Amino acid sequence: MKHNIDVLIDAKAVQAKVKEMAEAIRSDFGNEPLLLVAVLKGSYMFVSDLCRHLGSNVEVDFVQVRSYNGGTVSSGNIQIRKDLDINIEGINVVIVEDIIDSGATLDHLLAMLKTREPKALKVATLLSKPDARRVNVPVDYVGFEIPNEFVVGYGLDLAEKYRNLTYIGVLRQD
Ligand code: IMP
Ligand code: MG
Repeated sequence: MKHNIDVLIDAKAVQAKVKEMAEAIRSDFGNEPLLLVAVLKGSYMFVSDLCRHLGSNVEVDFVQVRSYNGGTVSSGNIQIRKDLDINIEGINVVIVEDIIDSGATLDHLLAMLKTREPKALKVATLLSKPDARRVNVPVDYVGFEIPNEFVVGYGLDLAEKYRNLTYIGVLRQD
């Protein structure tokens, strides 16, 4: 199947927003140490740009989760495939997500990380699809609210393709 991709958010707008989000995070935490917890794989590009704007006193760690489903519809059953390396007790943590869709992944992750008693636990997502939300999750920093359509680029994939695009695009199937 051939895909056409329409630009939804161009590269310049993405970069400007990432910088703005970093400034908002810094203004909340001052120069306190921060741990960015990036959710693989989709947020790898976002976290790499975000951390460059946060100056010193930033560490990055990764989790990978899998939404377990037999078919095409997410069951909301989330599994941890890769846990953090860093002990987050007493630490300022910002979860970094590419996109919040149903909210199920984030809901699970928040519940899990809360039990480890971080000093602060906040959430930054580049994209949010409010119309797709099934679980109400608190989000502190949102880049763009987008319509309930499948998007790719800047880390987001369709079957592992298109992650390397510098912009966010909407797939049109011909
Ligand atoms: P959730 O439904 O909020 O749990 O989102 C789970 C994951 O689905 C996200 O972190 C993304 O990796 C993926 N996802 C959701 N919507 C899209 C999309 O439009 N394009 C690519 N991946 C998506
Ligand atoms: Mg993701």
